[in-house]
Amino acid sequence: MDRQHVESELDLEQTLFTEDEILARLREMAAQIEADYEGKDLLLVGVLKGAVMVMADLARSLDRHVEMDWMAISSYGSGTTSSGVVRILKDLDTDLTGRHVLIVEDIIDTGLTLSWLVANLRSRGPASVEIATLLRKPEALQMDVDVTYVGFDIPNAFVVGYGLDYAEQYRNLRCIGTLAPHVYS
Ligand code: IMP
Repeated sequence: MDRQHVESELDLEQTLFTEDEILARLREMAAQIEADYEGKDLLLVGVLKGAVMVMADLARSLDRHVEMDWMAISSYGSGTTSSGVVRILKDLDTDLTGRHVLIVEDIIDTGLTLSWLVANLRSRGPASVEIATLLRKPEALQMDVDVTYVGFDIPNAFVVGYGLDYAEQYRNLRCIGTLAPHVYS
């Protein structure tokens, strides 16, 4: 482990999932996805920037042909609260007509951003739109969007690592954990 990772990990209060645990769970999800999409084309749609690591490891766990595309969206809200009002910063390059789309997410919190995204993608004439997320928080269970593949349900805490940031930092941590209070102060 390099110096930067040692420094970043000192900022964690608790490690929730190690890299090995994350990769093992993604392999299980990939096996399920392979079975469900057998004989169908598959387009993975990642949401920048948080889903970069999940996409990389989930896609490489899939033992089949797969396409990948990316969207960048920004949710208007105050501070860390998401409002559900979304602006597209980078749209897909792919025409979704008749495609089987699997949205790949890092985390679902309120689910507002994702509800908007699903509605937006469904309006483009795909054959199907499903969701895979590595992490899901309790509030997301109240939303009316079905999430087909969930890695882990976690408590309602702010987590970083494996693509997830706090002020654009910690995305490159290999594990996922909660931040120590001294980082916020
Ligand atoms: P939602 O619309 O509330 O579901 O917002 C989801 C987005 O908020 C995620 O894609 C993350 O970018 C961000 N987010 C929510 N919870 C966390 C967290 O615990 N750590 C880092 N980012 C988070």
